[in-house]
Parts: sequence; C-alpha cells; structure tokens
Amino acid sequence: MTPLDILIMAAGKGTRMKSRLPKVLQRLAGRPLLQHVLDQAAHLQARSAIVITGHGAMEVEAATAGAASVSATFNPEFELAFVRQEPQLGTGHAVQQALPQLRTDGTVVVLSGDVPLTQPDTLRALIAASEGVIDDVYDGALALLTVTLPDPTGYGRIVRNAAGAVQAIVEHKDASEAQRAITEVYSGILAVPARLLAPWLGRLTNHNAQGEYYLTDIVALAVADGVPVLAHRISDALQVAGVNSPVQLAELERAYQLRQAHALMEQGVRLADPARFDLRDDPRTGVRGALVCGQDVEIDVGCIFTGRVELGEGVQIGAHCCIANAVIAAGAVIHPYTHIDGEQAGVAVGEGALIGPFARLRPGAQLGRAVHIGNFVEVKNSTLADGAKANHLAYLGDATVGERVNYGAGSITANYDGANKHRTVIEADVHIGSNCVLVAPITIGAGATVGGGSTVTKAVPAGALGVARGKQVHLTNWTRPAKLPKP
Ligand code: UD1
Ligand code: CA
Repeated sequence: MTPLDILIMAAGKGTRMKSRLPKVLQRLAGRPLLQHVLDQAAHLQARSAIVITGHGAMEVEAATAGAASVSATFNPEFELAFVRQEPQLGTGHAVQQALPQLRTDGTVVVLSGDVPLTQPDTLRALIAASEGVIDDVYDGALALLTVTLPDPTGYGRIVRNAAGAVQAIVEHKDASEAQRAITEVYSGILAVPARLLAPWLGRLTNHNAQGEYYLTDIVALAVADGVPVLAHRISDALQVAGVNSPVQLAELERAYQLRQAHALMEQGVRLADPARFDLRDDPRTGVRGALVCGQDVEIDVGCIFTGRVELGEGVQIGAHCCIANAVIAAGAVIHPYTHIDGEQAGVAVGEGALIGPFARLRPGAQLGRAVHIGNFVEVKNSTLADGAKANHLAYLGDATVGERVNYGAGSITANYDGANKHRTVIEADVHIGSNCVLVAPITIGAGATVGGGSTVTKAVPAGALGVARGKQVHLTNWTRPAKLPKP
C-alpha cells in the first residue's frame, strides 16, 4: 500500500464567524473542527498530517499538538507537523508552503480544516482513484471529490469536455455565464500522488480575478501533462460542507448529532426525539463523547451527554438532563432536569436508584443500589450505601453514608472549615432529621437519630438520639404586639 500523507489547510481567517477563536478551533460536538479533520487522517491510517496554519497559528498549533496521540492509536508511526503560511495568498500558495515537508513516495490528500463531516469511506474511494486502482490508470491520477449542488454560487465549477472528461476547475469569480450554469462543483478535497503534485505547484500563477494562487489550477496543468483527472462525485453535500458562519456551524452540529442519534437507535436505544439529542466530547478533558447503552434504555427529549457515559439495561433518562462522565447501573431512573457531572473522578449510580427531578450529582458521588436522591439535593465526593435516601433540599459533601440511612430535608454536611475539607461518617440505619448541620469531621453511629434542627459537632453514639439545639421554652400569657389605634 502507498503511504498516505494528509495536508490540512487551516490558515484562513474565518471572518464570518465574527469570533476571536480561530475558525478551525470552533467546536462541533465539543471537538474542535480541526480535530474532526485529523480524525479522518487517523481513520485512513495516514503516515503523516501537515497542518497549514496562518491566522491564529500559535493558538491552533498549541491546541492541536496533543492530537497526534489519537491518530497514534490507529497508526503508531503517525507524525503531525505544522507549517506556517504568512501571508495567505491562496490555496495553491498554502500547499506550496507544505511542499518542503512532503515526502515524494506517498499519496497526498488535501483537506480543509473547516470541513468536518467527510466519511472515511468517501476518502478511501478518492484515494483508490488517485492510485490508479480503478479505471486502469496505472501511473496514478489526480482525483477530485465533487458534488452537485442546486445552488453552486461561490464554488469552483467542474468543466468537462464533450466526452465528459474533466478539463479544469474554474472559480466562480473567474467563470463565464455558461460555466456558472454548471452545478457540479469542487469540494476542496483531492487526492494525488505526491510526485505528480510537486511540479504543478511550481507552475501556478495568480493571474485571476482574486489575484490568488489557486490550487484548483493544477487540474488544467494535469490535463496539459496528459495525467488523468478523475472526478469522484458524491450526492451527500453534508460530507463536503464547510463551516463559515455560526449558522453553518449549527447546521452541521445538528446533522452530526442526528447521525449519532440514529446510530444509537439502530442499537436499540429509544430516543423520544432524535432531533433533540446531544452527545459531545468533554472540552475540559478532551474525553471523547461516548454513550454506551444496555438493552431497553429510554432517553427523553433535550438531554445532553458529555464525555463517556454508560447506561445499564432499562435505564430511563427523563427530559432535559445533563449527564457527563458517569456510570448509571441497570434499572436506575433519572428524573427530568437532573445534572450529573463526574468531571475527572466520575459519578456512579447504583442499580434501581431514583434520582431527581432537579438533583445534582457531582464528582465522586458513588451511589449504591436503590438509593433515592430527590429534588434540590447535591451530592459531592460521597458514598451512599444501598437503600440510603436523601429526598429533599440537602447537601452531602465528603460523606460516607451507610445502608438505609434517611437523610432529612434541608440537612447539610458542613465539610469545609474555610481551609480544609473534612469527612462526615453516617453509619447504617441512621435517621438524620430535617434542617440539621453535621459539622465535620464527625461520625454518627449506627442506628442513631439526630433530632431536627440540630447543629451537631460531636460524635453521636450508636443507637442514641442526638439533639443539639436551643431548648423549647413557653412564655404563658404572652401577648403579641398590637398596632396602636390611630389618634
Ligand atoms: C475553494 C476552491 C473551490 C471550491 C471550494 C470548496 C480554490 C482556489 N478554490 O474555494 O474550487 O469549490 O474551496 O469549499 O481552492 N486557505 C488557506 N490559505 C489560503 C487560502 C485558503 O489555508 O491562502 C484555506 C482556508 O482556511 C480554507 C481552505 O483553504 O480552509 C479553502 O479556502 P477558501 O477561501 O474557503 O476557498 P474557496 O475560495 O471557498
Ligand atoms: Ca477564497
């Protein structure tokens, strides 16, 4: 197999995004656009990728350097390199900058850093065409990915002769009226043997409407040299759609999410509405969006999954939940508007647990079987054993909670003294009344009861009732203040 080297053009400014962030770092499903394109290089098991940067070059390079590791999982020999194009004098000029780094024994695929949804199979077919695998072109060919668009405005047109052979690409601004009527356009993606590409690049000129060095001019040069030019035409415009504006970014986001939603439904996951489903990478850690589901999982509308989330058999996710980096065991029910974010430490929800509505599970929340967490309850870095319940308006931070504990409404662990965090241990079968403050470090012994309204600072022995609040007093014959009669 001929080695594959990918060139990714990413020097453009992306003016229409109206953003400080370089365009290729804008995120689609939580992942920078350029990373989506590098993923394609990975799927193709490319030998190298050369990213051509310009606008925001430092930022783009810094954000992308770690990407090599992803590609290395496909090809350990993978190399990622950057070249600068300053100033930007056109797509042909961009590729010229990469030429010194480009090896001559490979096949080159040219991609754009802002075209994220090209399918690997499409690129494989394009590469096969350039390597002469089809059409009896044994010495290699220039293979163009083309698409027919109802409105081809702005794109380079594919000009063919009477026999249907590709003769040239003519940019919209340089095209005649007759050429502008052509609806087959160049996608911006091509494949060609490197040894053919190099000499053409040296012959490009900027004598055109935009005064730019057009990469697309290599087509006419190939024809002049007698090198076959093959158009691999696809009908799915999404695969070659670029991101130029927030509207286009949102359109591609929806298309990408719909693809993910359909893939899950094909595995049997029941989504109430595939158009209202999101699965994203976690931009904080770079963990890839992955939703791993058992049988008979149901997900209601408007849920957002981030990073790696596992849902066991029969799990039900209510409407409008946000769930990141969590493992939810079989039969658990997550009621609407629940926020679960495991960040790095993760969150685990046990079998048959009932969570929410309006619950918040934070990193290190480890819940056993049949745990109940109700509305406006926050759990952070705490273990709750099987059958423990905190049903209303409560906080559990840095706590170890035993089996069957009932944790009353409005109660909190005071886990932070302003400098350090301390643990609260609540042993099995404890009953914490409403509105208690458990000042950590503290242990409530097995089977103990803490009276409502107590601020507890000392350990409560097993089986005891701990009460720590002002004693109730009665002033008999008490008369309420009354308003004085008006004079
Ligand atoms: C280009 C093609 C056009 C095709 C269209 C598909 C040329 C001359 N034209 O047009 O035939 O239909 O893509 O979308 O190639 N870039 C650089 N350096 C530059 C100029 C551009 O890195 O000097 C990068 C851009 O950041 C972008 C890509 O190259 O990622 C394409 O550039 P763009 O200006 O969008 O090309 P078009 O004029 O749209
Ligand atoms: Ca342009």
